[in-house]
Amino acid sequence: RLDIKEIFENPEKFLNKEVEIEGWIRTSRSSKKIGFIEINDGTFFTNLQIVFDEKLENFKEIEKLPISSAIAVKGVLVETPKAKQPFEIHAKDIKVEGYSHNDYPLQKKRHSFEYLRTIAHLRPRSNTFNAVFRVRSLAAHAIHKFFQDRDFVYVHTPIITGSDAEGAGEMFCVTDLDLANVPLNEKGEVDFTKDFFGKETNLTVSGQLEAEAFALAFKKVYTFGPTFRAENSNTPRHAAEFWMVEPEIAFADLNDNMKLAEDMMKYIIQYVMDNAKEEMKFFNSFIDKGLVDRLDNIVNSEFGHITYTDAIKILEDSKEDFQYPVKWGIDLQTEHERYISEKIFKGPVFVTDYPKDIKAFYMRLNDDEKTVAAMDLLVPGVGEIIGGSQREERLDVLERRIEEMGMDKKDYWWYLELRKYGGTKHAGFGLGFERAIMYLTGMKNIRDVIPFPRTVKSAEF
Ligand code: 4AD
Ligand code: MG
Repeated sequence: RLDIKEIFENPEKFLNKEVEIEGWIRTSRSSKKIGFIEINDGTFFTNLQIVFDEKLENFKEIEKLPISSAIAVKGVLVETPKAKQPFEIHAKDIKVEGYSHNDYPLQKKRHSFEYLRTIAHLRPRSNTFNAVFRVRSLAAHAIHKFFQDRDFVYVHTPIITGSDAEGAGEMFCVTDLDLANVPLNEKGEVDFTKDFFGKETNLTVSGQLEAEAFALAFKKVYTFGPTFRAENSNTPRHAAEFWMVEPEIAFADLNDNMKLAEDMMKYIIQYVMDNAKEEMKFFNSFIDKGLVDRLDNIVNSEFGHITYTDAIKILEDSKEDFQYPVKWGIDLQTEHERYISEKIFKGPVFVTDYPKDIKAFYMRLNDDEKTVAAMDLLVPGVGEIIGGSQREERLDVLERRIEEMGMDKKDYWWYLELRKYGGTKHAGFGLGFERAIMYLTGMKNIRDVIPFPRTVKSAEF
């Protein structure tokens, strides 16, 4: 049996010949003598029309099949030059492979994304989510291809970790301790020596620190996997479980880092536009008008650059009524990020050299001793999509920063050793994979680009 994609990609090969396909009924209508079914097998975005008539011995059964029933069809592919699709199948035989009940929730009407979230097990069958998850898969492939073609080594960094990569304390604890009977030490704290690992461990917030260790052995590496954050932010951009792409390169500075990020973003966009044409057309028509032209523009233009300090000046001078007051030293909020990328640069922009106090301990201290060699990539519609930096390679400065931030040097002993043994300048960044998918599709909520999203108070599936 053929994948329906094969027919759409090469109809000439099958015209006027008998073909066999299988799939699920998307729409169905019939009169006394003739029926029309639109079928989809998930290999191609567009439905294929099946025409059947009372010559079928099971005509009555087929015509009554509820939407989403699975069928196998044998028939001839014929040209239909005047119809919206240039071909259809005239069925000779239709077999039922799986009945659907009449209360199938995805009937042919528009459903809200909120409602579809409550049926995450069925929503990949809808047009929007079918397109989103195809794009998600292709984008993941594009990322691997981009890095592999450039000889980056893919490192599988651990999911369960003993260190806090961001030093922000937003971690989910991993434990096998009996919560009804938690062992306490003399100080009355949880006694993690009794835990499976003999110490407190957490789900990783980032694979960066381990990626750095490998960059200092392989020069160019990347990790791409799930990360977890117990941030209590119930926003359309934050998930508790999300995927991150984190390249790390030795002998590289902040400019090399931004160049890599820009090349990677353009590559992913181009790859998805080339390989998901139907899906991108759909997003362009139904989700975000003008999306395809905009993405096309981005691939063919240079990303903007501005320092944090200059961005703050622009925000202070703007007439915008920001909810969160602007002054040097604040962490940029989504409203500020969007203003800079949407109103000032009208496209992707790197903001660099943030105040050290709002950034992680590992970022390289600039000569002014007030800012660090950080870069965030901000994009219209989403805000921060990438966060990265040149890393602090000077052992003494790094130790001082760790102490300043009230962290324990002991917890980072191996990370500090990397600076002792041939620690060279190096840099890297993290791309939020879901935010990249939002940017590529125009979807507005992170819950709608993750197959089974985990967010605050939500892990039904
Ligand atoms: O800016 P972040 O926190 O940077 C890091 O984790 C670095 N260790 C990366 C590195 O340099 N290797 O996170 C990177 C990106 C953000 O820009 C954002 O796109 C995404 O990860 N991100 C989230 N995406 C969804 N939900 C969340 N809760 C996210 N937190 C960060
Ligand atoms: Mg960040």
